[in-house]
Amino acid sequence: MSAAAGDVVLVEKKASVAWITLNRPQALNAINDDLRRALPAAVSEADADPSVRVIVISGAGPRGFCAGADIKEFGEVDSIAGRRQRLVHDGWVNALDRARKPIIASVHGFCLGGGLEMAVACDIRIASKDAVFGYPEVGLGLITGAGGSQQLLRIVGLGRALDLFLTTEKIPAEEAYRIGLITRMTSSEGLRDETTKLAERIASLPPTAVALAKEAMRQGAEMDIAAGKKLEASLFGLLLSTKDRLEAAEAFKQKRKPVFRGE
Ligand code: CAA
Repeated sequence: MSAAAGDVVLVEKKASVAWITLNRPQALNAINDDLRRALPAAVSEADADPSVRVIVISGAGPRGFCAGADIKEFGEVDSIAGRRQRLVHDGWVNALDRARKPIIASVHGFCLGGGLEMAVACDIRIASKDAVFGYPEVGLGLITGAGGSQQLLRIVGLGRALDLFLTTEKIPAEEAYRIGLITRMTSSEGLRDETTKLAERIASLPPTAVALAKEAMRQGAEMDIAAGKKLEASLFGLLLSTKDRLEAAEAFKQKRKPVFRGE
């Protein structure tokens, strides 16, 4: 296990999976400036590490994934400084968007504000039944500032996103599952094991195909269908040249397990 920026983020690598744990449990893992710096650094490092195939983000402590921005750091800001600060702060979530490898948010307890922004920037959200989701920002006289409104509406649709955003209500995991905000739900005790199984399953697949599958979906979601199909066709063409594709077919013929090397 390695740690960064005063241990606000812990990184553990296990079987091709990098577990990045937000580690400010005394403040429900609220995002302060240290965490805003440490998280993107940890994600970028894991994304560049050839021994890592899947990244998991989780929260330390029994009470939650992340309760959002650290409200105790909120103070007066004039408009120019506020804009500058926002542009700098945006970077902490952009690292998740930029990652080529799949990122799983493994959520328990509170997942609020910037915590939910982080979760919706991930590719897959798995949560335990005790998880609670919401955007309290409007009640604080703010809105999300790291892409959270835009990501949410693309995941659950405009109607449900507006309902969550404008009411500031917190919804339980069952409701989040029902509206597709999370795609897997586990018991509280089962979250770690189920996340491990999910991450290891993806990590066992050919890594280049996984990365390009993510790219096709992520970029395609922002395109019209004709452009999306062109993108898919070009990524498909790239995968034809990989050794892993030949290995998959060879293993099938020989009735054995494939060994994928990301080549
Ligand atoms: N920032 C700083 N500290 C926080 C925090 C936050 N977002 N959320 C919780 N904490 C701290 C509490 O202050 C408390 O610390 P102390 O023991 O030192 O007082 C500790 O974590 C435990 O929290 P509570 O005692 O409040 O626990 P609770 O069970 O009574 O309530 C809660 C839990 C409903 C999550 C409540 O803590 C809460 O409402 N937190 C704020 C959530 C929020 O509004 N987040 C959005 C922030 S804005 C944002 O994220 C986006 C943006 O930039 C605009």
